[in-house]
Order: sequence, then C-alpha cells, then structure tokens
Amino acid sequence: MVAESDARTSLLGRRRLMELGTAVAGGGTIAAMNVATAAMAADELPISPPEDLMREHGVLKRALLVYREVIARIERGDDVPRHELGGAASVIRSLIHDHHEHVEERYLFSVLLRANRMTSTVEVLRSQHEAGRMLTSVLLTVDNTRGAFDRRARQELVETMAAFIRMYEPHEAREDTEVFPAFRAIMPPQTFADLSERLREEEYRRFGPMGFSRYVRRIADIEKSLGINELAQFTPTVPVARQAAGGPA
Ligand SMILES: [Fe+2]
Ligand SMILES: [Fe+2]
Repeated sequence: MVAESDARTSLLGRRRLMELGTAVAGGGTIAAMNVATAAMAADELPISPPEDLMREHGVLKRALLVYREVIARIERGDDVPRHELGGAASVIRSLIHDHHEHVEERYLFSVLLRANRMTSTVEVLRSQHEAGRMLTSVLLTVDNTRGAFDRRARQELVETMAAFIRMYEPHEAREDTEVFPAFRAIMPPQTFADLSERLREEEYRRFGPMGFSRYVRRIADIEKSLGINELAQFTPTVPVARQAAGGPA
C-alpha cells in the first residue's frame, strides 16, 4: 500500500514534470528554467531497476580507479594514501556490498533462478559478492592502522586491490550486458514498474533523499584528493592518439 506522503510526493512529481514539459513546449530552454525545479523534477523521474543498478556500477568503477591510483603510488614507493583507500573501501562496503548486492540477490537473482535462467552465472556472481566482501574487509582496516606499512603489508594491499579489480570488472560487465537484460526480458511490465518503486523506497529508507548523490560526492572528493578528478587528464595526447590509430606521430 502506498503511504499518503508517498502519494503526495508522486503527485507533486507529476505536477513538476508537467511544468517542465510546458516550459520546453513553450520555447523555453532547460537552462532558462528554475534550476531547483528542474533538478527536483529530474530526481523524481522513475528509474528502472537496471538503470539504478548500473549507476551504482558507475560509482564502483570510480572506486576501482581510486584503487588503481593507490596501487601505482605504492608500487613507486610513495606512502599508502590510507584515508583515500579507506574512504573508497567504505563507499564500496555501504553502497555496493550492503545495498547494491543485497538488491541484486534479493530481487534479480532470485527471479532468474526461479525462471531457471542464467543459473550457473548467478551462482558465480553470488560467490563473487562473498569474495568481494572479504577483500573489502581487509582494505577497511587500512584507515585505522597506526604507523608505517612494512613491505609485506604494502604488498598485501596491492594484491588485495588487484584481485578486487580483476574480479569486479568482468563481474559488473557481465551483469550490465547479460544479467540485467535477461531479468528485464522475463519481468512483466507492471511487476517491473512496482519493483522500481520498491527499490526507490528501499534506497530512501537506507540512505535518505540524497543517498546516491552523497556517494557520488564522496568518491569525487577522494578522486580530488588523489589528483585524478580531472576527466580530461585521461584523454590521450594527440601524438599518442595518432600512433594508436596507425598514423604519423
Ligand atoms: Fe553483483
Ligand atoms: Fe552489480
């Protein structure tokens, strides 16, 4: 049953969406609209379960980028950036292990298993969730470690992060390209829509109204602290790009 406050919220959302549509139809631009109204309307647009999970995969990818940078620093002999590493592991634990993977197992994997679809893949994905939690529990101790890390401890951190990256890259890619589409294909449209609403409520209950955005901000702050937040820094320079394309340098 939809609570009265939820019904009011939905009604408010529909009204804002109508305002948005009227503004665009009237020749106005998004930029010219009230920014707060536009942002709230966007926030209230329904998000399908796969879209919701895939944007969380985006945060996971950014955390993997942090791990890569930490590995590079350790391997070149720098101090372990413990706060950044501990922060990224903390984001992974609460957003990915405690929420995202719980949702996958409870609402998606169970449906696929009942339909006898992708059963062996789902079993592997579930065991990888378990392995991921174990690796993260090692990385979470970093922030509380006193004193310098000796050679063995640094090597263990590198191996733990490398194992995590190696497992989660194919894990999330397989979910995005095969598991989520298979789930979508067998879900009746109304059940799919109901699940969207249920996931939205669960996310709200767990994280509050700004839950997802808060995690994006946290991972962005960690990137900033490590100096890997500028997107343009990942663009190859022109000669390198030409060489890669087989042209003159
Ligand atoms: Fe997963
Ligand atoms: Fe996932």
